[in-house]
Amino acid sequence: MANLFLVPKKILSGQDALENAGPYLQELGGKALIVTDKVMVSTGNVQKLTAILTGNNIGYEVFDGINSEPTTEMVAQGIELYGKANCNFLIAIGGGSPIDAMKAIGAMIVNTGQLADYMGKELKNPPPPLVAIPTTAGTGSEATQFTIISDTKNNVKMLLKGAVLLPSLSIVDPILTVTSPAKVTSATGIDALTHAVEAYTSRKAQPLSDIFAVSACKRIFANLRPAYKNGQDLTARNEMVLAALEAGIAFNNASVTIVHGMSRPIGALFHVPHGLSNAMLLVECLRFAAAGAPARFAELARAVGIADASLAHEAAAEKLIAEIGALCRDLDVPSLEAYGVDRAAFAANLDKMASDALISGSPNNTIRQPSKEDIINIYQKLWQ
Ligand SMILES: NC(=O)c1ccc[n+]([C@@H]2O[C@H](COP(=O)([O-])OP(=O)(O)OC[C@H]3O[C@@H](n4cnc5c(N)ncnc54)[C@H](O)[C@@H]3O)[C@@H](O)[C@H]2O)c1
Ligand SMILES: [Fe+2]
Repeated sequence: MANLFLVPKKILSGQDALENAGPYLQELGGKALIVTDKVMVSTGNVQKLTAILTGNNIGYEVFDGINSEPTTEMVAQGIELYGKANCNFLIAIGGGSPIDAMKAIGAMIVNTGQLADYMGKELKNPPPPLVAIPTTAGTGSEATQFTIISDTKNNVKMLLKGAVLLPSLSIVDPILTVTSPAKVTSATGIDALTHAVEAYTSRKAQPLSDIFAVSACKRIFANLRPAYKNGQDLTARNEMVLAALEAGIAFNNASVTIVHGMSRPIGALFHVPHGLSNAMLLVECLRFAAAGAPARFAELARAVGIADASLAHEAAAEKLIAEIGALCRDLDVPSLEAYGVDRAAFAANLDKMASDALISGSPNNTIRQPSKEDIINIYQKLWQ
C-alpha cells in the first residue's frame, strides 16, 4: 500500500521566525491581503507583520473582519477586498479562524459557485500563494489542506479540503502566542492533542504521520500545563507551537476521527469554541474508540512513556485516557452545562448533530466505527 504525505512548501519556525521572513515573503508577491481579526490588531501582532512587509517593499491591505467562527459572508468580503486592492497573494495572521478564512478566500478566488458546492469534493484549482502565521498553538491549520467555514444558513460547519490549500509558507514563531489568554491556550492546546491522538489512532494512520503524532503528544504532555500557568514561558510556548504544527502535519496525512466529527456540530449550534468542544468530548470518545480496539491507544501510551511494555493493551490504553482526563481537569475544561449550553436545546438537536457528525466523514476513520446510536449515546454521556 502506498501512502501520500503532504506538508506545506516551506516552514520557517523558531524564535524570530517572523523577523526573518522578509526574503521568503518577497518571493510570493508584491501586495498581500492580510486576513486577521481585531484582536490581532490590538495585540500588535499585525503591526509586527506590516513592519516586516514595509521593510521588504511589499504592499498590503488589512482585512480584520474575521471572528472566531469564519462564515461564508466573511469569505465573500475578503474576496471583494482582495480584488479591489489589487492584491496578488494572501497572508493570514491569527488563530485557526483567520487562517481558515484565508484558505477559503484563496479557494473562491479561483473557483466558481459557492463554497458549499465543494463539500465532500477536492478543491483543485491552485489559489494565489497562501502564507499562514499562527498565533495560537492549536489548529495546525498552517500545515493542513483543510478549512472549516460556517454555513450560517444551514447551521453547519463545512469541512472543505484540497492539497492546493496547503500554505506556500508557514511562519511558526512562539512570540506571537505569548499574548494568548489562558482559556485560549488550554482550548487550543487540547485541540492539538486531539489532532495527534486522533491521527495516531485513525484508520488512515501511516508510518510518517505516526512520528509527528507521537512527538506532538510528548511535547503537549510536557508543556501545555506550564504554558497555561504562565503565558510568558517562552520555552513552553515554543514547544507548544511546534507540537501544534506536528499534530497538524499528522492529521493532515491521517485524518481526524470521532472527536472532531462530533465536535463540529456542537460548535455550529451552540458556539462552543472548537478546542473546548473537543476537550469536552475527548475522554468519552476515546473510551468508546479504545473499547474493543485498544492496541493503537496502548502503543501510543507506550511511545509517549505513560505505560511500559509489561502492561496489557487495555490497561495501557486506559492509562493514556486517564492521563488525558487529568490534563483536561488541570486546564479547567468545563462541562457543557457549566459552559452554559441549554440542556433541552441540546437534547432537541441530538439527531441533527449525530447526522451532521456522520456526514462529515470523520467518525468513519475511527478504529472502532461508531453508529448513529453510538454517537447519540456519547453526546448524552456529556450530561451525566
Ligand atoms: N483547518 C484546519 O485544519 C483546522 C483544524 C482545527 C480547527 N480549525 C478551525 O480553527 C478555528 C479555531 O481556531 P483557534 O482555536 O486557533 O481560535 P481562533 O482563531 O478562533 O481564536 C480564538 C480567540 O483567541 C484570540 N487569539 C488568537 N491568538 C491570540 C494571541 N496570540 N493573543 C491574544 N488573543 C489571541 C482570537 O482573537 C480569538 O478571539 C475553528 O473555526 C476550527 O474549526 C481548523
Ligand atoms: Fe481541531
